[in-house]
Amino acid sequence: MAYSVPKLTDWSADSLDKAASDLLSSLDAEIHHLLTSDDGIKSPDHDLEWKQRWLKYKEFRDRWVARKGGIVSQLKESWLNGAPREHKSQAGKVFNTLRLRVDDEVAGAETLLQRQESDAQQAQPGGLSFNSYDEALISTQGIDVTLPGNRRKLGAEHPVIKTMNEIVGVFRNLGYSVEEGPEIETDYYNFEALNFPPNHPARDTQDTLVIANQQNKPLRDRLLLRTHTSPVQIRTMEKQKPPVRVVCPGKVHRNDAPDATHSPIFHQIEGLAVDTNITFCDLKGTLDHAMKALFGSSVKTRFYPSFFPFTEPSADVQISCIFCGGKGQRDGGPCRNCKASGWIELLGCGMVDPNVFGFVDYDTKKISGFAFGMGVERIAILKYGVDDIQLFFNGDVRFLEQFG
Ligand code: PHE
Repeated sequence: MAYSVPKLTDWSADSLDKAASDLLSSLDAEIHHLLTSDDGIKSPDHDLEWKQRWLKYKEFRDRWVARKGGIVSQLKESWLNGAPREHKSQAGKVFNTLRLRVDDEVAGAETLLQRQESDAQQAQPGGLSFNSYDEALISTQGIDVTLPGNRRKLGAEHPVIKTMNEIVGVFRNLGYSVEEGPEIETDYYNFEALNFPPNHPARDTQDTLVIANQQNKPLRDRLLLRTHTSPVQIRTMEKQKPPVRVVCPGKVHRNDAPDATHSPIFHQIEGLAVDTNITFCDLKGTLDHAMKALFGSSVKTRFYPSFFPFTEPSADVQISCIFCGGKGQRDGGPCRNCKASGWIELLGCGMVDPNVFGFVDYDTKKISGFAFGMGVERIAILKYGVDDIQLFFNGDVRFLEQFG
């Protein structure tokens, strides 16, 4: 039943197809035989039996795919190189398909055979005896494999990621979807389209690292490490028409010296809602809800006038101090967490500036929107009572494992 390559006299498409399908059915039959027949190799000695099966498989494999003289290389010689000029291209196609098929099937047979072997091994009570394997290890390497193993500790979600997921979850429940954007941004998305004109002093508040040697590019195309997640607003609005409700979590960079409350790398979550008739009331209601969901229903919010180039009006959101309950006093003295004010500043927000909508071709006569941005570490610090932002980045397992 072993297949041998027939000489072709007729290279027409029909005849090639017939020859190809004969070859494939022979191949299938051989594989079937290989995997099912005992052919005198069945033996009570498991190892011996499988050695013989492997030998048979290797023989089969070499007969089909050996570089020198294998069936596939004979096909090339005889069906392809021997084809008359006008049939060369058709013969080439058939040969290529066959070659891939044969490779696949031969490899597939090997996998099946290995699986059979491991199944048989498990089924064999004394097959490859675990005891003798142990003994061999003990005597040759002095390893006692019967000792209990080293327990591997389960990892814990990093507190920053955990907090990020929690915040995103709050907004998902309100129908927001999630968008992400690049950490290496162009000046256009990080500043210009967000209404920070070139040389505007507002850029000073967000100084960052810029990629070197870009002087020959126009300013808007120069690359920098993004200073906030707000560029994702622009990217989202370029991609989709209103209504928009997205949150954009991610890593950001600023030229800030590290101390207990600052880190040159940190994380933000941006939010953006654009639709007809979106008002400041919607913004207040949304953020009030989010803060209660994150810090507990007794937390109050207040909105304090602020400035961002891309929102007008803009506000900072403060929550009532979660340490002194907003009283400003704790343990008979002034509360240190809110500097006795009863309020903690937490995030920035505002109504999207019409200039920003201009950059993304949204019709400001028909729609309006709000945006907000919050620092993830800042929220984690408050939620978990962490007193130094550096703890999030030092990688001290004793700190990190508390969040498991
Ligand atoms: N992007 C601002 C910052 O990083 C935060 C913000 C986002 C403010 C959205 C208003 C609206 O400081």
